[in-house]
Amino acid sequence: MSTSLKLPWKLHILFHLIYFIQKLCVRSNGTLNRRLHNLFDLKNPPTKTPKNGVSTSDTVINSSRNLWFRLYTPQGGDNEENSNFPIIIYFHGGGFTFFKADSFAYDNSLELQAVIISVNYRLAPEHKFPSQYEDGFEALKFLDENFDKLSINADPGLCFIAGDSAGGNLAHHVAVKAAKYEFQRVKLIGYLAIQPFFGGEERTEAEKCNSRAPVLTLESTDWFWKAFLPDGSDRDHPAANVFGPKSAVDMSQVEFPETLVFIGGSDILKDWQRRYYEGLKKAGKEVHLVEIPGAFHGSYAFKELKESSLFVKEIKIFMKRILTD
Ligand SMILES: *[C@@H]1O[C@H](CO)[C@@H](O)[C@H](O)[C@H]1NC(C)=O
Ligand SMILES: *[C@@H]1O[C@H](CO)[C@@H](O)[C@H](O)[C@H]1NC(C)=O
Repeated sequence: MSTSLKLPWKLHILFHLIYFIQKLCVRSNGTLNRRLHNLFDLKNPPTKTPKNGVSTSDTVINSSRNLWFRLYTPQGGDNEENSNFPIIIYFHGGGFTFFKADSFAYDNSLELQAVIISVNYRLAPEHKFPSQYEDGFEALKFLDENFDKLSINADPGLCFIAGDSAGGNLAHHVAVKAAKYEFQRVKLIGYLAIQPFFGGEERTEAEKCNSRAPVLTLESTDWFWKAFLPDGSDRDHPAANVFGPKSAVDMSQVEFPETLVFIGGSDILKDWQRRYYEGLKKAGKEVHLVEIPGAFHGSYAFKELKESSLFVKEIKIFMKRILTD
């Protein structure tokens, strides 16, 4: 049944439009009409002149697979005296399938006192698991090896890894991979899991109750997993069900950054997100949970919603606490 959320009418129309466009671009044989989707997925060019106090530029990591990132530098970030900005390595959402780092929907600075690196990773179904995780990890390595050349006045020893939805899932797996690697400069000190996309074969209460919630429906989560996971695997694949029956990593043995998990009270994925939080806790990790009551999946990206500013507020508190510890 659909939930009766009170939404501003503009958003109501927008959500229907997003849903309609995604339906339109998905072919019956499981592929995506990428060219058609690109027509709707409007892009923002980088801007040298600061917008809301933030300038942006793009850097290529590997052109042969279109791996690059958009860099957000807050004012003062190109000034020697401010060389201690933390860095947020960010992965956008979109079910591993939609959007790019320069998509209109994601080209947003969150008014954080941090340099943000938003990674443009490969998309499913053209590129399946683990391409996205490889790209995310490659971005960290690139930052580590090229930090001086990038002339970013920030401290690579103060890196947060972050993502929303599928980007939150990506950030988890990249952080696990990073734990086994010796970086020279980069150090992950925090992980922001913003309504991360996790799942499994089981149907949770939230999935049954909110199956036709705004932005993300049960039908679309199933489609996203199918598009992303290797052919023949089910949703208990360890990429989706991190603490499930097929889980491949003993998280208690992984050196993992302090984590903040956001849950939306009306998010279809909230039970999976809570299990993720509980799984980390059981594995002895330092993890915090913030539940935002009215939020449905993706709420934080819509600045019109009062919930959106709550996310930003909590992100600031979490970062500040870690940075001053
Ligand atoms: C799926 O359908 C499209 C359009 O009809 C076609 O171009 C494509 O080759 C098909 N792909 C597969 C894997 O069947
Ligand atoms: C760039 O990506 C291509 C295609 O994935 C890969 O074959 C190549 O090794 C990558 N180059 C570097 C320098 O990592």
